[in-house]
Amino acid sequence: MQIQTGIITVSDRASKGLYDDLGGPALKHAAQEHGWTVLSELQVPDEKPEIQRAIREQISKGCQLVLTTGGTGVALRDVTPEAVRDIAVRELPGFGEVMRLESLKVTRNAILSRCLAVVVEKTLVICLPGKPSGAVECLRCVSEAVPHCVEVLQEVPTAC
Ligand code: MTE
Repeated sequence: MQIQTGIITVSDRASKGLYDDLGGPALKHAAQEHGWTVLSELQVPDEKPEIQRAIREQISKGCQLVLTTGGTGVALRDVTPEAVRDIAVRELPGFGEVMRLESLKVTRNAILSRCLAVVVEKTLVICLPGKPSGAVECLRCVSEAVPHCVEVLQEVPTAC
């Protein structure tokens, strides 16, 4: 199936235009390489209601997969995990576990990312680190599981 994808950059500075958003375009490129269709791209500050509103907006536009970049770290402004958990019907812990484990091979600071995946309504939401290369690396670690996960959530008949 064609996976309709939304991308959200979570960053105070990028949302104010104080610096160029590199993470969103990097994720868009990665998503397209996987053959996924990018329907919507948004930039929001590190504010829980704004993050939640952006996810709901992309779901209402038909996104079956939402990728966020940023706000997964340990700074007090990093609230992406809290924002998505508050609106999630469930968390998929395997995504965070694999992303951190694989990323440790790239940087010891991978342990600092609280990257995760949750289900909001019927949409898979994967929250990736803010550094563009980190976001793409983490997505690559879990991308093989995405099509099956999206199909199950969208109740498309699957072989398993
Ligand atoms: N994971 C990968 N694969 N590559 C990276 O460069 N950077 C780490 C970590 N995970 C990184 C990574 C760093 S330095 C931080 S601070 C955390 O992600 C959190 O990033 P965020 O707050 O921008 O989301």
